[in-house]
Amino acid sequence: MAEVRVRVAAYVVRAAPSGLELLVFDHAGLPEAGRQVPAGGVRAGEPLEEAVRREVAEETGLADVTVLTSLGVSQRPHPQTGAPRVTAFYYATTGEPRGRWEHEVTGDGEDEGLRFDCYFLPLSQVAGSLTDRQDEFIPALVREARQRAAPLFVPRLDAGPFVLRPFALDDLDVVREVSADPHIPLITTVPAVFTADDGRRFIERQWSRAERGTGYSFAIADAESGRAVGQVGLWLKDVAEGRASVGYWLAGSARGRRAAACAVRALARWAHDELRIPRVELQVEPWNSASIRTAELAGFRREGLMRGWREIGVERRDLLLYARLADDPMPGT
Ligand SMILES: CC(C)(COP(=O)(O)OP(=O)(O)OC[C@H]1O[C@@H](n2cnc3c(N)ncnc32)[C@H](O)[C@@H]1OP(=O)(O)O)[C@@H](O)C(=O)NCCC(=O)NCCS
Repeated sequence: MAEVRVRVAAYVVRAAPSGLELLVFDHAGLPEAGRQVPAGGVRAGEPLEEAVRREVAEETGLADVTVLTSLGVSQRPHPQTGAPRVTAFYYATTGEPRGRWEHEVTGDGEDEGLRFDCYFLPLSQVAGSLTDRQDEFIPALVREARQRAAPLFVPRLDAGPFVLRPFALDDLDVVREVSADPHIPLITTVPAVFTADDGRRFIERQWSRAERGTGYSFAIADAESGRAVGQVGLWLKDVAEGRASVGYWLAGSARGRRAAACAVRALARWAHDELRIPRVELQVEPWNSASIRTAELAGFRREGLMRGWREIGVERRDLLLYARLADDPMPGT
């Protein structure tokens, strides 16, 4: 009886602002080979999860992959030769920022030296599109991903001439600009010295707020051009007590159009009306007239001065506490 070949296949998923995406590849110059996910034979004595990481690295070049769980085992024989085989499908994740790249296959398998065109495909477009019925466990992947899904979803909110939307990797320019601001890196996690890697990590941190359930981080973008000009966030540390807090900044080149006031108004309304959060707070340093005016334009009321409240830079600073309750009036524009 022919020996059964033991294989692994990897569904490597990344979280993009528009939803989950699956890592797939085509053979460069050989379209008839069809779209595939990384898969291949397990070496003698090799743990299956290690085989998953090795196959992904050999076939796509990705080394930074976290294997989460197995999804099931397929017993379908080889589609051409009919040779018996079992294939264990695994769910793995990556933070890979590139959307598409070409990779020359490494390792000692029959694919070695072939060139693969690797890319991410929205999970919703995968069903029926993979060769060798590799999509057999996509429904199990979707179920598993849903169970582990981000507890929060960052929506798109209208804010007059601006929109609030999730950050995207294309928003590096605004991070670069505010890195050079004298104040913003002191009060946020914007890197004080910009590199593309640090900028990307800043954006990934914004996604992780919703993934970890700690808050909603929005890019403030120009509604017409879509270009990000700033950030506004709703932070949920005290949400169990019915309170959330707001923070915001704008790139210097976008100031002077009340963009922050538009953004904070829209966010506060959404927090009260949709999230049913009764009290939204913000804190402002007493010297920061533009921010104080922003708070007032968004219907926040001054409640007091908190002395030595927080370390900013090298000293503890006083902060004014502003808040708005769900039925506080929103001033006219
Ligand atoms: C606070 C900030 C987001 C406001 O940016 P913006 O939305 O472009 O604000 P604008 O420049 O349109 O100003 C908003 C209001 O403040 C007023 N204002 C601005 N600077 C002012 C100043 N120095 N003194 C008095 N009023 C001032 C403006 O006149 C405007 O009011 P008006 O439209 O009624 O005249 C921006 O200055 C910023 O990013 N600062 C650094 C980060 C920061 O401080 N974040 C807030 C932390 S609490």
